Amino acid sequence: MEYMTEVRNFAIRSWFPGIAGEVGGIAAQAGMPAVIDADQYAQLAPEIDRSPAVAGWKRVMRSQQQLAWQKLQDSFAADREFWEGQLTEAEERNPGRLHYDPDFHVPESACEDIHLQPGGYCGDNLAGFVFYHGTRVFYQGDNDKDEIHEACVDDMRLPADGQVRKILDLGCSIGQCTTVLKERHPQAEVWGLDVALPMLRYAHMRASDMGVDVHFQQALAENMQHADDTFDAVLAYILFHEVPEHTFEPIVREMLRVLRPGGTLTVIDTPNSTMFPTPNWMWKVFDARYNCEPYSQAFGAFDFAALLEKVGFEDVSKETTNTFLLNTLATKPG
Ligand SMILES: C[S@@+](CC[C@H](N)C(=O)[O-])C[C@H]1O[C@@H](n2cnc3c(N)ncnc32)[C@H](O)[C@@H]1O
Repeated sequence: MEYMTEVRNFAIRSWFPGIAGEVGGIAAQAGMPAVIDADQYAQLAPEIDRSPAVAGWKRVMRSQQQLAWQKLQDSFAADREFWEGQLTEAEERNPGRLHYDPDFHVPESACEDIHLQPGGYCGDNLAGFVFYHGTRVFYQGDNDKDEIHEACVDDMRLPADGQVRKILDLGCSIGQCTTVLKERHPQAEVWGLDVALPMLRYAHMRASDMGVDVHFQQALAENMQHADDTFDAVLAYILFHEVPEHTFEPIVREMLRVLRPGGTLTVIDTPNSTMFPTPNWMWKVFDARYNCEPYSQAFGAFDFAALLEKVGFEDVSKETTNTFLLNTLATKPG
């Protein structure tokens, strides 16, 4: 895994600037400006795809991803009984904190092999173990102590009245923001919600081992099974670029419903509704076409802040971060 981390690190930090330059050169030769939109990118795509330099970079990026997942899956599957036992043992040791219905129906859209992880988030009981170690490679060593999740939580908008009694981490995966939320707000009841039970079981085991008292719940973001006006703050970190476009509005309406008046929303995700410089479109197209993120391009072209205003949020603002992500902040009128 250390080797795969270094390969990814090299491909992104050292190699990619040259690849972006190559794409910029192709755009300039076609008479296009330095900043282009999705349609212009689509016109250039055949020429870009013919570049051996670009093709080599994409091949390494994709193979690195496939190899990392494969190695991890093989390693955990070799001791399947032991690891599944760890999940069950945590549920027995720390009951009442993992909430799911055995008859819950997972929609097909949530079963894609996202980021090429075979079986995706839902397809294997051990997917949480694989995801935890695979994303350590993905974050190239920058998140070994949840530093990125800490930064997300620290960037959240909180209610102006200072009351934070109940917080929701939407699309929580293995609960890294969820545990940081509890550490930052020990007085609050903290819930992580996700559609994928393997992620939630791992999240529950991890939080139990850390001694952090949080709840994990299997549900759909578009149907959360919580009462109106329940949460003081909601965080959704990199959820939206992974869900189909037709679910954006139902999820946003549901977030508004479960927030109490004056409650706050923080959505941290890939940039959207923007003109992208060519290198960024390279990422989007790479992710959508070669890294199994089938919905990410639709999110990139979507005006998410406008949707928040349309459904009734107020004080909607966008803040760029020191990562490539965008924070969209909003408040429920109250
Ligand atoms: C990129 S991961 C989120 C990462 C996570 N927030 C973190 O802190 O690392 C996206 C998550 O969204 C979940 N998801 C996808 N569709 C969903 C839906 N309709 N409702 C709830 N969760 C969903 C997936 O199962 C996955 O765990």
